[in-house]
Amino acid sequence: MAGPGFRGHPAGPLLLLLLVLLPQALLEGPLVFVALVFRHGDRAPLASYPTDPHKEVVSTLWPRGLGQLTGEGVRQQLELGRFLRSRYEDFLSPKYRREEVYIRSTDFDRTLESAQANLAGLFPEAAPGGSEAHWRPIPVHTVPVTEDKLLRFPMRSCPRYHELLRETTEAAEYQEALEGWTDFLTRLENFTGLSLVGEPLRRAWKVLDTLICQQAHGLPLPSWASPDVLRTLAQISTLDIGAHVGPPRAAEKAQLTGGILLDAILSNFSRVQRLGLPLKMVMYSAHDSTLLALQGALGLYDGHAPPYAACLGFEFRRRLGDVDEDGGNVTISLFYRNDSARLPLSLSLPGCPEPCPLSRFHQLTTPVRPPAHGVPCHGSYETAAPRAPVVPLLAGAVAVLAALCLGLGLLAWRPSCLRAWGGPV
Ligand SMILES: *[C@@H]1O[C@H](CO)[C@@H](O)[C@H](O)[C@H]1NC(C)=O
Ligand SMILES: *[C@@H]1O[C@H](CO)[C@@H](O)[C@H](O)[C@H]1NC(C)=O
Ligand SMILES: *[C@@H]1O[C@H](CO)[C@@H](O)[C@H](O)[C@H]1NC(C)=O
Ligand SMILES: *[C@@H]1O[C@H](CO)[C@@H](O)[C@H](O)[C@H]1NC(C)=O
Repeated sequence: MAGPGFRGHPAGPLLLLLLVLLPQALLEGPLVFVALVFRHGDRAPLASYPTDPHKEVVSTLWPRGLGQLTGEGVRQQLELGRFLRSRYEDFLSPKYRREEVYIRSTDFDRTLESAQANLAGLFPEAAPGGSEAHWRPIPVHTVPVTEDKLLRFPMRSCPRYHELLRETTEAAEYQEALEGWTDFLTRLENFTGLSLVGEPLRRAWKVLDTLICQQAHGLPLPSWASPDVLRTLAQISTLDIGAHVGPPRAAEKAQLTGGILLDAILSNFSRVQRLGLPLKMVMYSAHDSTLLALQGALGLYDGHAPPYAACLGFEFRRRLGDVDEDGGNVTISLFYRNDSARLPLSLSLPGCPEPCPLSRFHQLTTPVRPPAHGVPCHGSYETAAPRAPVVPLLAGAVAVLAALCLGLGLLAWRPSCLRAWGGPV
């Protein structure tokens, strides 16, 4: 009754494969905490322009109004929520528990609705089409827009940030790029009836936003809005985003924008550990400006604007193996889901291949997080702390953004509904 030997066993190759994969799985360790930051779903354009041929039909096209989430946007968030359920099936309780999951949104209709739609995908009891007796909505927290210091960037009331921005836009590289677009903007003024030359670039973005939203919803574009015009508008947007989250002084900009949220996420986790809280997940429903600021702080902005429902995740895991080596018993990995048809991208912080030990992550991000005594929104360069050394973290962003400022690296641009920095989208 000799049974088949190990080598002859049909499961043999599988076992070998398992042995190969095992160290990786062990290295990963179990999840202990997750923070998610996502952009709202598809929305109506934020504005129209004087010569907009579709101006008259705005109320029928976008019955909820400009800037509001569309049915498609609701569907995208539901899908994201379902994806999160499958990713965290073994981590979260099957049902919502208030001590386990905390959801915060900016105080905009589209982000609040997005959070709710997402939760309907994540928690069966909030799902559409379930039995009425078991249906339960899930709470979403917010603070008034003017008091939101966590998710809404840039803060209007941050003089230092505006000073940094002025320095960037007065620099020669920026001015040269801008001059190259003066003729274009003059022509666009005539096409749109807007005044654009010498105005903040966000006006040009709003035109792009309107065009792309209309196009995405099947409307014909005016004849002047050729693919070339859209491409140029996208390049102008890239320049402006780079100015907001990139060099010069990218680390200082981050301290006043994305670094605040990054710091909050790290503090959320420290607090959970220190107090032994049952909290497992925080979710932040926000804007592309929020994601761009966070990417800028992480040195991961690469010229791509986050599409609707894009989600950046921070996964904290218990570190298995030698805990003394790098110090600390937790690692952090990042993922970015910007395409629902693909697996999320694994990202690593420049200078720390994932899974990155949390202590190293803290260390590398220190220059981009606000100092312990608070967000340095007041005060000027003279009184400022000496400029942070260029850490490896920022090196990648510096290179990419320098290229962008020179007008290179723009070929891969894919337009999407862009935010205007004057207000989140
Ligand atoms: C654009 O220029 C043409 C010709 O110069 C002029 O007739 C038209 O009124 C202008 N349109 C706008 C919106 O300024
Ligand atoms: C997470 O951090 C934010 C910002 O500091 C704070 O408002 C929130 O209460 C924290 N949440 C938890 C559960 O620690
Ligand atoms: C890591 O170590 C700290 C203190 O040494 C402990 O409080 C915490 O629970 C540990 N975390 C994990 C995920 O094991
Ligand atoms: C997603 O992000 C990656 C990295 O930035 C980029 O290469 C890719 O084109 C993006 N995909 C979409 C659909 O935006």
